[in-house]
Amino acid sequence: MVAKPHVLIVDDEESLRHMLQLALAREGFEISTAASGQEALSRMAQSPRPDICVTDIRMPGMTGLELMREAFRNQSNPPVFVAMSAYGDENLALEALRHGAADYLSKPFKPEDFRLKLALVWERARPQREHASPGPQSSPTSDNPDRLSGMVTASESMRRVFRLVRKVAPFPTTVLITGETGTGKERIAKALHEEGTRRNGPFVPVNCGAIPENLLESELFGHVKGAFTDADTDRLGLFQMADGGTLFLDEVAELPVHLQVKLLRVLVEDEVRRLGDSQNTPIDVRVVAATSRDIDSMARSERFRPDLYFRLNVVRIHLPPLRERTEDIALLSHVLAESIGGRLGIPDARLSASCVQALEAHTWPGNVRELENVVERALVLEEGQGPIQQVAIDAHFSRNGASNLPPDSSPAEEEIRYRFDDPRTLALARVLSSVEQQTIKTVLAFTGGHRKQAAQILGISERTLLYKLKEHNL
Ligand SMILES: Nc1ncnc2c1ncn2[C@@H]1O[C@H](COP(=O)(O)OP(=O)(O)OP(=O)(O)O)[C@@H](O)[C@H]1O
Ligand SMILES: [Mg+2]
Repeated sequence: MVAKPHVLIVDDEESLRHMLQLALAREGFEISTAASGQEALSRMAQSPRPDICVTDIRMPGMTGLELMREAFRNQSNPPVFVAMSAYGDENLALEALRHGAADYLSKPFKPEDFRLKLALVWERARPQREHASPGPQSSPTSDNPDRLSGMVTASESMRRVFRLVRKVAPFPTTVLITGETGTGKERIAKALHEEGTRRNGPFVPVNCGAIPENLLESELFGHVKGAFTDADTDRLGLFQMADGGTLFLDEVAELPVHLQVKLLRVLVEDEVRRLGDSQNTPIDVRVVAATSRDIDSMARSERFRPDLYFRLNVVRIHLPPLRERTEDIALLSHVLAESIGGRLGIPDARLSASCVQALEAHTWPGNVRELENVVERALVLEEGQGPIQQVAIDAHFSRNGASNLPPDSSPAEEEIRYRFDDPRTLALARVLSSVEQQTIKTVLAFTGGHRKQAAQILGISERTLLYKLKEHNL
């Protein structure tokens, strides 16, 4: 039988101590309080010792930072710290994290955010033995994958992510998803929506990096007629469109600074004000944000507003890159082959064992999206010839393998001047021309330069192929 975790709440304001105590009352925590840093230190010396200490930073006498420093210096088994400070004191929050706080909350916060945060902090901190798997079969394997909203995994690290998603999905809490390009951030954002109580409401994605800066503001917040020259009608912003559902702010680190301020206000007040409007409109939107940038160091160096960072980062979900969960490569390859095969009408789309081995040996800088592209390309090229063989995969790696860069930034493919993650570059002619060029190259590599055979595979005349070779400088 495991003892209840003991939480010590330290704040000089009595009403806040009381409120936090109430918020945790039914969560199965043992709770004690202290009105000052000194009192907290003597409480920590008594038994039972607190497991978690939630402390205000600004307090008369000993500050929360000093309390942490003392505890870390003099206690043999100091508690896990969660620091709190008022809105606007985010530099102190960064200090607290540097001093070893496990997490931070910006006041005022909602009781459910507080509860959830503590539950997650405790889950991270509590001894392994307590959250050992409930049964012998709970570890995912290729034969027994874990599933979430159409995603699959055979790895422990993604399974942890799935667990976290299930846990936070029912709350309206803001979530920040981080991870390299192509790791599944948007899929996880959707899963948070689908697994929660808002699943019947709208899921509204917006890519903050892809909308021109001058349009983004009215896109997000809406405008009233006459707000600016082209505003000839009233328009709802994406926040209002997501009312009752989830707004997914993708590439949030690209948000210009003046919009970071506005977004912060919306998150704190749960209200939006359309451009040109004199009134705020209340909204009920769960915000999920994502970025592939290192937003932690951006916040530390204030290239991203720390106050907004802390508002978004109530719960953090980090997606591990594919190279750190190689167990997933085989599973995902098979699942992707099946689903892509279904979409393209290729019956019995399968990968040979040697093909999967070749896939497992790659480091996947473009992560699941790159894997998806490679599998699709191989399926298209080998349609109707039995399981996909290694050669189709090798064709991809021989172009990218040496440098091992993502396909869209490899020097060997510098002719590709678009990026699928940057819609501003997606002029159709350019995309199609690049795909055509790549396809021809791949097929020619496959036929060993045999043009007649290549033309047959490509379904064009040899003459058209010659013309295209010239056009693409091949
Ligand atoms: N566990 C998974 N199971 C099945 N498909 C997945 C999984 N993870 C990712 N994918 C697929 O991989 C592709 C990339 O996923 P997604 O768009 O969510 O990544 P992302 O992190 O948002 O990428 P980017 O940073 O480039 O925007 C998608 O097509 C998605 O369906
Ligand atoms: Mg994305």
